[in-house]
Amino acid sequence: MKLMISAGPTREAIDPVRFITNHSSGKMGYALAEAAVAAGYEVYLVSGPVNLKQPDGLAEFIPVISAADMAKAVKDRFPVMDAFISCAAVADYRPVEISAQKIHKQDGDMILRLERTEDILQSLGQMKAAHQTLIGFAAETEDLRARALSKMERKNLDWIAANTVGVPGRGFQADTNAVTLYARTGEVVDFPLTDKKTLAEQMLQTIFSKKG
Ligand code: C5P
Repeated sequence: MKLMISAGPTREAIDPVRFITNHSSGKMGYALAEAAVAAGYEVYLVSGPVNLKQPDGLAEFIPVISAADMAKAVKDRFPVMDAFISCAAVADYRPVEISAQKIHKQDGDMILRLERTEDILQSLGQMKAAHQTLIGFAAETEDLRARALSKMERKNLDWIAANTVGVPGRGFQADTNAVTLYARTGEVVDFPLTDKKTLAEQMLQTIFSKKG
């Protein structure tokens, strides 16, 4: 089975020395990639900038920086994949203009205009063929269930992994996580707090013993 996974944050440049990003460490996506290699899958890892060792045994490692880079890397490869897990924390907005020169400070406030990036997973939801499985993540600080279910619907996903962020031991940066996996079929599976490696193994077993 060919499985593509995206991981980590993206960086959206403001000028040659500054960028907008988020707290994603890439740990969950890398744990999924490692567990998938161990399960014998052909794994394609598309990764934003992280401080993690590249997993052994990948079919391909594709380093990217911005949301636009990630969109291209993922959409180019998706047609030949059996499944895609979108674990990356893709920036939703980027600066309208990237200054070619370093922006110097001036008196008073500064306004930075931002524009939407492409929602990569939503694009894939529109491209998806019947045999392909699409899995998203919903990292939320509130209304976890409702927001996760609405993302599954809007992005045409087969599964969505909902996790709380902003709580110690969960989500960004942490070595542990707890998720609830919602399936399009209505199935709901709770995974209590555990290390991301164990969680990754359990999630893959649940998702791929049912389909693919
Ligand atoms: O940002 P949001 O909460 O909508 O993210 C939910 C899912 O959509 C995640 O799996 C994330 O990887 C994906 N996403 C994306 N492109 C974006 C924003 C989010 O693929 N621009």
